[in-house]
Amino acid sequence: MSDPDSQKRAAGEAAAALVERGMVVGLGTGSTAAWFVRALAARKLNVIGVPTSQATADLADSLGIRVANLGETKAIDLTVDGADEIGPGLSLIKGGGAALLREKLVWEASARCVVIADAAKRVPTLGKFPLPIEVVAFGHKSTADRICDALAECDIGIAPILRRKDGEPVRTDGGNLIYDAACGRIEEPAALAAALKSVTGVVDHGLFLDLADLALIGTADGVVEFEP
Ligand code: 5RP
Repeated sequence: MSDPDSQKRAAGEAAAALVERGMVVGLGTGSTAAWFVRALAARKLNVIGVPTSQATADLADSLGIRVANLGETKAIDLTVDGADEIGPGLSLIKGGGAALLREKLVWEASARCVVIADAAKRVPTLGKFPLPIEVVAFGHKSTADRICDALAECDIGIAPILRRKDGEPVRTDGGNLIYDAACGRIEEPAALAAALKSVTGVVDHGLFLDLADLALIGTADGVVEFEP
């Protein structure tokens, strides 16, 4: 199981084994989360899924999982989602799929959160993967300038880059824009998270701190569990 996709699949299947009949389950976004959704659908547990993106809602629906919006069900028992980086204490960078805001809303509303990933996602220090920052479209260039200041306060001397696809700015499901900040090393994630949240126009950022309860990582030797 040395290729990333097999590792993602194994992690997704291991997470699906944690789900019990009748649960309300937060459904993450991305290729690893998609393996989880497929494995969950195959178990036919009569769950309600709360998707973190339209893409995941469409996938779950196509596989026969009942879906509901956040806040329309009883409390979420368990959320399973992927990550772009998994650092010390299960600190995470998420948002590579531009779904970070809905992901964070669903994670924060969940009794338990499990992150699933291939082995390459584990890092000793967060920051090699560019940190996604979701901003409102109005005045976004000005917001980007103030994000620069917030990064500088944390000794990160770079400018965030507006994410584009096919030449056009990427829009999130909520209609916002994404800036990616290639920080390199994030020595103090909590301080950076607070600095970014204080910028008016920033909706949220991809640092998920103190949210994951368990990581299931696919490796060449099988799925390995990590706790914070
Ligand atoms: C989407 C995410 C994804 O979970 C993250 O990008 C990982 O994706 P993949 O499982 O495809 O590697 O945060 O916003």
